[in-house]
Amino acid sequence: MTAEASLLELADVSKRFGRITVADSLSLRFKAGETVGIVGPNGAGKTTLFAMIAGDLKPDAGDVRVDGRSILQLDPASRCRMGIARTYQVPRPFENMTVFENLLVAAYRGGQLSRPQGYAAAARILEETGLSQDANRPAGRLGLLQRKRLELARGLATQPRILLLDEVAGGLTDPEVAELLQIVDQVRQRTVAIVWVEHVVHALTRAVSRIICLAGGRLIAEGDPQEVLANPEVKEVYLGVDIDA
Ligand SMILES: Nc1ncnc2c1ncn2[C@@H]1O[C@H](COP(=O)(O)OP(=O)(O)O)[C@@H](O)[C@H]1O
Ligand SMILES: [Mg+2]
Repeated sequence: MTAEASLLELADVSKRFGRITVADSLSLRFKAGETVGIVGPNGAGKTTLFAMIAGDLKPDAGDVRVDGRSILQLDPASRCRMGIARTYQVPRPFENMTVFENLLVAAYRGGQLSRPQGYAAAARILEETGLSQDANRPAGRLGLLQRKRLELARGLATQPRILLLDEVAGGLTDPEVAELLQIVDQVRQRTVAIVWVEHVVHALTRAVSRIICLAGGRLIAEGDPQEVLANPEVKEVYLGVDIDA
């Protein structure tokens, strides 16, 4: 045990839904500067993990810490203000607001930026995420790729230290995934850590330095992306899923 606190830490976290165990005394640590991928079969509890970090769900047991301090008592809005941003697998913009307005809300509320700062941040993020041409469109009218971009952009607008990406590449074509990777690469420089849950494994391996594989609420493997994906146990939990897809 080192004296240095992890940026984000889950300590012996357990969570059950009825008879389904989605986290079984799970412990994970994320350091500043890391981009980490999380993989695991459907229903492994990946999204639930993000919900427990962002404060949308409470663990049954265990602790979630940022900079060594428990954040369990903080509501989602407070966690967002302290720099935890979560994207949703199914994007959740304010459908009737424009793309730009969505980013302003995130920057003012989540990022606690002043009006001019928030405006400037929203404008920069529009550019960065390839949404400039859609700035004045209602979010509800966007196609899938632009919705995914907006989900990422909204997360960024809250000025996160810890960015949790939940399947942002899901459903995109290969060229679209390549564009998304470029965006993630840019934003990496402004966030402290990125944790990315993704089924599009070839996208992950290009973006992350470490992969964690979860199944049945437990950690199956962790480490170098290529090594983790070549691990027989990891291949087995993915049986029926084309890991290279
Ligand atoms: N709020 C909830 N209430 C009951 N069951 C849930 C809830 N959220 C998720 N589950 C169940 O928990 C399991 C893990 O879900 P999830 O975290 O979404 O997995 P993943 O993101 O890895 O596919 C699934 O079996 C899912 O049906
Ligand atoms: Mg999920």
